[in-house]
Amino acid sequence: MTNNAGKKNVYITRLIPAPGVEYLQEHCQCRFWEQDNEPVPQAVLLKEVADVSGLYCMLSERIDASVIDAAPHLEVISTMSVGFDHIDVDAASARGISITHTPGVLTETTADLAFALLMATSRRLIEANRAISKGHWKAWSPLFMAGRDIYGASLGLIGLGRIGKAMARRARGFGMRVYYYSRQRDEEVEAKQGISYLPFDELLQYSDFISLHVPATGETFQLISTREFNLMKPTAVLINTARGSVVNEEALFAALVSGQIRAAGLDVFAEEPISPDHPLLELPNLVALPHIGSASVETRSKMAYLAAEDMVEVLAGRPPRFPVLNA
Ligand code: NAP
Ligand code: GLV
Repeated sequence: MTNNAGKKNVYITRLIPAPGVEYLQEHCQCRFWEQDNEPVPQAVLLKEVADVSGLYCMLSERIDASVIDAAPHLEVISTMSVGFDHIDVDAASARGISITHTPGVLTETTADLAFALLMATSRRLIEANRAISKGHWKAWSPLFMAGRDIYGASLGLIGLGRIGKAMARRARGFGMRVYYYSRQRDEEVEAKQGISYLPFDELLQYSDFISLHVPATGETFQLISTREFNLMKPTAVLINTARGSVVNEEALFAALVSGQIRAAGLDVFAEEPISPDHPLLELPNLVALPHIGSASVETRSKMAYLAAEDMVEVLAGRPPRFPVLNA
């Protein structure tokens, strides 16, 4: 829908970094959900979309058929994320609504965070920091807070897309051996990056660290569960910066408590935000982060701008640069 100034109405579900706001305000009539630390309630969202041509959302909003049905003028949904599992793509497609996302721009930042989790878990950084504040550091001692080497260890990547490859580059720089499992083999990347393909089960058996980089889909739902933990080494560490749904959290809890695996580093959870009294958070061998993979000021600003730019492209009748769905 267009206002008096000939600008189309758009609804933005959070306060976004300035480059995105400025670009949207130049081209559209904008309304924002202005509470930064609280997602827009579904009832408010359903009302707000009634007159909009564009919906600019975060990964924390469920854009399902009910939202799409409540938005009769909707032309485009732009998400400030690369993952789009929170959007009902079929419902949007049936209505001829385009979807855009923000791949690429967040790749290196997210791989940095995945590698930070790998380092934090292997060298027990959070546990060691807590040990100081709890007064447990009484003397330098040979095995006090001893972790495991990163250098010379093997990393198994599940999903060799943009972030998986960026993780492989970091791991090679740290002197790790890198294996991967993905839907397709990429022999060019194998030769260029010095990494090797392994079938899924073998990757689980031979890797010291296993890092997940697949999207959340029906195929990847609880890809890592009891059977998979049973295949891993007792010294293995699981890193998940993909999506919480890729791991069965009950099976992970059991594997961490029984010593079936050594540790885990998670940036994503089945339910977000995870409840502060969730049993996983009590485990000393778990490092948990609040879904901050792409959270650098630079990257979040670029994501905000890209999603804004593509929204405007679609509203102007031009093809978006980063379509999930180009209706
Ligand atoms: P991408 O380039 O699309 O890479 C995904 C890879 O996973 C592709 O190589 C894909 O293979 C592979 N894959 C898909 N389904 C698979 C399956 N069933 N089995 C094995 N491999 C499979 O995506 P990306 O940019 O690297 O991002 C990956 C995911 O990371 C996103 O979808 C998002 O959920 C998550 N993410 C999280 C954060 C965070 O803040 N924690 C930040 C950014 C992204 P094909 O090439 O055959 O499709
Ligand atoms: C973050 O999780 C993203 O998908 O961008």
